[in-house]
Amino acid sequence: MTKQRLRFFEKSLGQRHITGTDKYLYKAPESTYRLVIIGTGTIGQEHMYVATLLGRARVHGIYDSQTQSMDVAEQNFKGYSDQSLVRYADLESACSDPDADALMICTPNHTHFDLLKVAMLSGKPIFLEKPMATTLEDAAAIVKANETYGSFIQIGLQYRYKAQYIEAFHEVQARASIGVIKTISMSEYRPPFLDKVGQWNKFNQNSGGTLVEKCCHYFDLINLMADSMPVRVYASGGQAVNFLEFAKDGVPADIDDHAFVIIDFENGVRANFTLNMFCHDFTEEMIVAGDKGRLVTKELFNIHQQQPSQATIALEKGEWGASKQTDVTYAREIEQSGHHGATYYEHIAFVDQLDGKACESATPVQGLWSMIVASAAQYSIKTEHAVDIRAFMLDNNLAEYLGKMD
Ligand SMILES: NC(=O)c1ccc[n+]([C@@H]2O[C@H](COP(=O)([O-])OP(=O)(O)OC[C@H]3O[C@@H](n4cnc5c(N)ncnc54)[C@H](O)[C@@H]3O)[C@@H](O)[C@H]2O)c1
Repeated sequence: MTKQRLRFFEKSLGQRHITGTDKYLYKAPESTYRLVIIGTGTIGQEHMYVATLLGRARVHGIYDSQTQSMDVAEQNFKGYSDQSLVRYADLESACSDPDADALMICTPNHTHFDLLKVAMLSGKPIFLEKPMATTLEDAAAIVKANETYGSFIQIGLQYRYKAQYIEAFHEVQARASIGVIKTISMSEYRPPFLDKVGQWNKFNQNSGGTLVEKCCHYFDLINLMADSMPVRVYASGGQAVNFLEFAKDGVPADIDDHAFVIIDFENGVRANFTLNMFCHDFTEEMIVAGDKGRLVTKELFNIHQQQPSQATIALEKGEWGASKQTDVTYAREIEQSGHHGATYYEHIAFVDQLDGKACESATPVQGLWSMIVASAAQYSIKTEHAVDIRAFMLDNNLAEYLGKMD
């Protein structure tokens, strides 16, 4: 059984007299695995922090093509860890270090495919950030390569570990609280894409497009909740407000900042997704309705008031049974460690996989499906027509994945 951990007391000044073998509840687990982080920007540093907080694996080394990113990551790391870090001079040495047990690829989307090819030469377990690639062709090639890979590849679709969705899946699937689900309505209202190294995320060519880059998370969640194959996608969207005057080396930013997407599933479930990226704070919502009730999940993150995020879930059953409304925000230290705690539970899944245990982390096939929906939606925006997923997949040489969702 996993031992309970009381971090609050572990870190409090009044408990410093508890030392050595007296530490039991205050003791961090022994780190079994050594991780190498490739790309030490925003998310690479989040993974460094979360891995250290969890303690079951330690950050052994870092590599980034930009010295500044490695310097800052190392400096920040020293603020919460007294362990040493290996700094690699190139990708090959980062991937082939015999002292490292697993690799985490946290570089921009357009670099994933080429970096992954080098990383796979190591035969080590790999964590690959989302979206797995910028094109369906590369994503499918990753799925193929994974089929014969001696180890595993986990995709960074960690929103499935957000507290409100863990609870929603439990209500819908394990408890069947709302009966047979019929509709899913999901939305994200948020500020624009943040500044990035080289501003890679302002261009479709680097990111794969806004719906691929950001919304693959939501299409992954919707696919999991619908538990069926998408058959038709219609979308409308564009660039209304953000980065209209932004250009790099004379090339104007071309990323969409809002969209409406409708998805029909083979089992009759209908879903929609709304994106708006010119708001001041973050609001995420998923409403699932079945024939015996409605489930409403919300996540609010008010950055201007500098308030911690809050995740809630409400079950409304009318005369079908008991209704409830609950705050399901993760323990504060975990919630604040990144992406409202989801990254922490994603790390547990990664280390569980290293231990050889089964877990619910995102597979390359699920990563591909999140990209199929996103890419079909982007194609629909461009052509102004609904996209038949079967035909879309045949056109993109993806016939073998029809009906294969995980
Ligand atoms: N799972 C999530 O919720 C989540 C959140 C944020 C970002 N991401 C993903 O993580 C990736 C990185 O995003 P970010 O926000 O950290 O970007 P970032 O710009 O903050 O950091 C990227 C880092 O990668 C480095 N880099 C670029 N090319 C490289 C190469 N060829 N080799 C080594 N290093 C290289 C850059 O110098 C930079 O330090 C993207 O794929 C993004 O979609 C995922």
